[in-house]
Amino acid sequence: MRESFQSKTGALLALVGSAVGLGNLWRFPYMTSQYGGALFIIIYLLFIIFFSIPLFTAETLIGRRAQTNACEAFNKLSHGKMRWAGSFGMIGCFLVTSYYCVVGGWCINYLFRSVANLLGRGGLSGIESLQTTFVTVSGSLPQWSESVQSVLFTLVFALTCGAIVIIGVKKGIETSCKWIMPILFLLIIFMAIRVMFLPGAMEGMAFLFRPDFSCINGKVVMAAMGQAFFSLSLGSMAVITYGSYMRRDDSIGQISTFTAFSDTIFAVIASVMIIPAVFAMGLEVSQGAGVSFISMPFVFSNIPGGPVLLILFFIGLLFASVSSEISMLESNVAYVMEKLKMSRKGATILVTLTASVFAVLCALSFGPLSHIKILDRNIFDLFDAATANIFFPVTGVLGTILIGWVMKKEHVVAELSRTSSPRPHKTTIKAFYVITKYIIPIMVTAIIINGLISQ
Ligand code: PHE
Repeated sequence: MRESFQSKTGALLALVGSAVGLGNLWRFPYMTSQYGGALFIIIYLLFIIFFSIPLFTAETLIGRRAQTNACEAFNKLSHGKMRWAGSFGMIGCFLVTSYYCVVGGWCINYLFRSVANLLGRGGLSGIESLQTTFVTVSGSLPQWSESVQSVLFTLVFALTCGAIVIIGVKKGIETSCKWIMPILFLLIIFMAIRVMFLPGAMEGMAFLFRPDFSCINGKVVMAAMGQAFFSLSLGSMAVITYGSYMRRDDSIGQISTFTAFSDTIFAVIASVMIIPAVFAMGLEVSQGAGVSFISMPFVFSNIPGGPVLLILFFIGLLFASVSSEISMLESNVAYVMEKLKMSRKGATILVTLTASVFAVLCALSFGPLSHIKILDRNIFDLFDAATANIFFPVTGVLGTILIGWVMKKEHVVAELSRTSSPRPHKTTIKAFYVITKYIIPIMVTAIIINGLISQ
């Protein structure tokens, strides 16, 4: 019998912890700014409602039914026919596990800098000096010293998460999510309101909420879909893994819907907090990956207690990213443990060290390795785009094929209805079935092909 989450709330917190992370507070605002604002958000929301919620349900269902690691789940539930699908999914899972550490490293870096700012020159009132250093840290790292720092923080992040996974995931995640998520949530609401009063912010709000439908193209749709997968950890094996830890009678439909809603609310509020601030600062909206990090010190620079709030913000961001990284590591570790018959400790050390090597390459791709470009992208951007736009959606589609075409319908329905809460309505189950069996596989495949053509 596999270990399971201690309660329904525990499962919920773990899934929300996996979902809410840098995807919401870093990747979503950054993508929104690059892909035209309101239009991107609308397409993203459509994906969340029609694709992500059913798919999240499908993936937790696969995990809970199989009661194995995510790779083996494909093999087991398809009686060997889809073994390769699990292996494909594991590659995406490993890639995201490594490159995510770089952004996690940025969080630690900025946290240190905000503390240094408070204690040093800046004191409680000035963040200006901090802003200038921030601009050099993310996006481009011109000097060796910056690269060394980036590598160092990347490794600190990876090793810390590895250590937490060795100790055992569930308790730590459940406790930290219970406290940190609500605090981070309140903090970003507070900041979003604050940002609205900055001069120039309204232009940013218009960018966020006034769509320009003429800008729609294959690239935007693919990016929005990739983000809908990334943000909810779909197609990454993490949801299947956590699904396998879910208790027998917890309602997977309810938990999935709740997780998707919380994650989306986080993402939208994060954008309302970040994009108008970027406009108010007079920065280029499409200026790159560092957009969230650069704009935050500015928002805090002229409010009383700003430097302290900034520290709180980075602590929250760090915790959110740690709980997401842990869900990725855990998916790899569960696989290695069961496949190579290793102990949790041995498997975690192996996965963490291997992921760290790739993470360092990603970190260096902003500095000394920036000349290495594949398909016009540096290593970091390549890992990011390959996972979100290709590996996750393809694995997601394979999951829906497993549910819709390979597994017996009565097993799927039985798993959906196995709950101590009110059972899902017949029509809901029917809709779920039609979406997973036909709509997601067809649409997602079409979007991937179209997106690749228009690259
Ligand atoms: N969903 C996480 C986030 O938004 C990222 C993630 C991707 C986590 C894949 C697990 C697996 O930050």
